[in-house]
Amino acid sequence: MEASRGMMIFDKSLLSLTVIGLLWLGLAITGCESSAVSETDNTTDNSYCYVCHINYQEERLTVIHEKSGIGCENCHGPSYGHSTDEDGFIPPDVMFTKAKINPFCMDCHKTDDLIMTKDHEPLFVGTEEQSKWPCTKCHGSHRLEARTRRWDKDTGKLIASDGVSMYQQ
Ligand code: HEC
Ligand code: HEC
Ligand code: HEC
Ligand code: HEC
Repeated sequence: MEASRGMMIFDKSLLSLTVIGLLWLGLAITGCESSAVSETDNTTDNSYCYVCHINYQEERLTVIHEKSGIGCENCHGPSYGHSTDEDGFIPPDVMFTKAKINPFCMDCHKTDDLIMTKDHEPLFVGTEEQSKWPCTKCHGSHRLEARTRRWDKDTGKLIASDGVSMYQQ
């Protein structure tokens, strides 16, 4: 998220690049460069989310990023409202429709890096269908198998719920 915010600031600040703007941009770029992040051993604390999402503790997409200090909140926002809602009706701050996944991942993992492995050929020189595969098709097992809640991932509106609160079970 840091990265995309950085890019937004960059676009807007083209007209008036202030010192503060430059500082922010510097931070955003450092945050996105994988080597810079992994050099500092800043494991992140996801325990707040594991209270309810315990099954993500061993999940690969989570684990590989956690080691580099990229936690749930870097991708899904701090999600305070969501985390403290005992009824589970408030959505997390950031959700991803299928179309948003690859551009988000590629904010940090650039095309040049990805084409280094043959495994990514379907994405870049595959059929039109293959070019739309989300990164998460192959990376991690990040999807929930069953849902008790469903939100519109763009607007955050609750569109389906089994109505059962955590504390009623
Ligand atoms: C905020 C930046 C950032 C975002 C966003 C991000 N990653 Fe990463 N990712 C990293 C860093 C840093 C590492 C660890 C250093 C490295 O291997 O590049 C990493 C590691 C990985 C690895 C392991 C690389 C290896 O060498 O084994 C995979 C696979 C991966 N990410 C996939 C994804 C996918 C899929 C997404 C989107 C769901 C994503 N990443 C989003 C920064 C990011
Ligand atoms: C068709 C399956 C597939 C898709 C789709 C896919 N990957 Fe991969 N990717 C792999 C495999 C297999 C490897 C090599 C083994 C590993 O590291 O997991 C790999 C390796 C990687 C690596 C580490 C090596 C490198 O090139 O730096 C990163 C980072 C990565 N993928 C990110 C992504 C991102 C980001 C996307 C979406 C834009 C994506 N992958 C889509 C299969 C896939
Ligand atoms: C590197 C970025 C990244 C990190 C770190 C990350 N997520 Fe995600 N998360 C995503 C993306 C992208 C999707 C959409 C995946 C899809 O639809 O295939 C997603 C989807 C989800 C979903 C919904 C899955 C579904 O079935 O719709 C849940 C729940 C979730 N994440 C929880 C977590 C939790 C909890 C953590 C930390 C323990 C976490 N995520 C860490 C990027 C991330
Ligand atoms: C009090 C319990 C609770 C806590 C704490 C919690 N969640 Fe959730 N979360 C839920 C419930 C309930 C769902 C709906 C799961 C389902 O459909 O069964 C959910 C779903 C999600 C989804 C899926 C959204 C989608 O795309 O449909 C994401 C992403 C997510 N949580 C992220 C987080 C993150 C990040 C944290 C920590 C900052 C967190 N959650 C902490 C209860 C919690």
